[in-house]
Amino acid sequence: MTIAVSLPNAEKLAWWVAHLGTLLPEHEVTPAAEISRPDDVRYAVVWQPPTGLLASFPNLKATISIGAGIDHIAADPDYPTDVPVIKTIGPDMTQRMLEYVALHVLSLHRQLPDLQTAQKTGKWLQIVTPTAPNRKVGILGLGHLGRQAAVTLKGLGFDVAGWSRSGNAPDGIEGYDASQLDAFFARNEILVCLLPLTPETRGLLCATTFAKMPKGACLINAARGAHLIEDDLLAALETGQISRATLDVFNTEPLPQDHPFWTHPNVLITPHIASLIDPVSGGEVIAANIRTLDAGGTPEALTHVSRGY
Ligand code: NAP
Ligand code: GLV
Repeated sequence: MTIAVSLPNAEKLAWWVAHLGTLLPEHEVTPAAEISRPDDVRYAVVWQPPTGLLASFPNLKATISIGAGIDHIAADPDYPTDVPVIKTIGPDMTQRMLEYVALHVLSLHRQLPDLQTAQKTGKWLQIVTPTAPNRKVGILGLGHLGRQAAVTLKGLGFDVAGWSRSGNAPDGIEGYDASQLDAFFARNEILVCLLPLTPETRGLLCATTFAKMPKGACLINAARGAHLIEDDLLAALETGQISRATLDVFNTEPLPQDHPFWTHPNVLITPHIASLIDPVSGGEVIAANIRTLDAGGTPEALTHVSRGY
């Protein structure tokens, strides 16, 4: 059985092909562009596959995303919708994301950027911030990553709430369901986006939702660039409705050199590194999921593009 691998970056593609070949010696692991017999392909392991690629494998049993998001697969209008998609999430990915969220929430909470600015002019700026239990932090999306991030922030003492379709939240976290969006936005002084990108969540971070937030609230987007209307954020930063933003993801990546975010004093940019899949442990997760499928089982992270996440 053949596993087709597709990634836009040639170096990463070669690495994944070699690594998966070692982990799954019972399969033939081949770059998708070199497949000569498309009928033999049972699995495709992909990141941002070209449009139509997956539809060209008539016996495809599952598509494996090299990452937690499946938006890069669902974006293909030719995707064979009956073929399941497996998300790749492992302990390393969760750990990295909760580190990222804790780092940036603490930084905004303790006004670290203001202290860095003050240092540049030798200013002794003794800021007294509220303690974490008096800081309301909200997580949009309480999935694999959002839940752990919420629990970590709660462990640091923050007053944490989460928003999801169902409203189910871990113990100690206030859960808001999809119908309680306005109340959720109104609550949070620091908002962290960890939603999947779907037609419902695209553009959710916009002038309308910013206006519902407390004046001067901070935003962290570690999900997808298209959750955010970038011009609306620039306008909200201008009025002070949003005081600071930490952005890991963008509509165009890499962020174009002339983009105003690069030089904005109240924007911190990280280059989509909040929680990149660790190729070694991620490869093991992918191999384990393929073995589960081979044995007729259902990996926990199996979903369909019709669900969207
Ligand atoms: P997940 O397990 O699929 O969870 C998604 C969460 O979003 C669930 O809580 C779900 O609600 C909620 N949700 C989905 N649609 C919604 C809607 N329309 N309204 C309200 N809530 C909705 O996702 P995950 O593994 O935590 O990953 C989240 C996203 O993070 C990924 O899709 C990816 O885009 C992004 N990501 C970014 C990086 C990075 O490095 N920047 C790394 C990894 C992932 P229910 O609980 O009710 O189903
Ligand atoms: C990264 O952005 C992922 O979806 O895993």
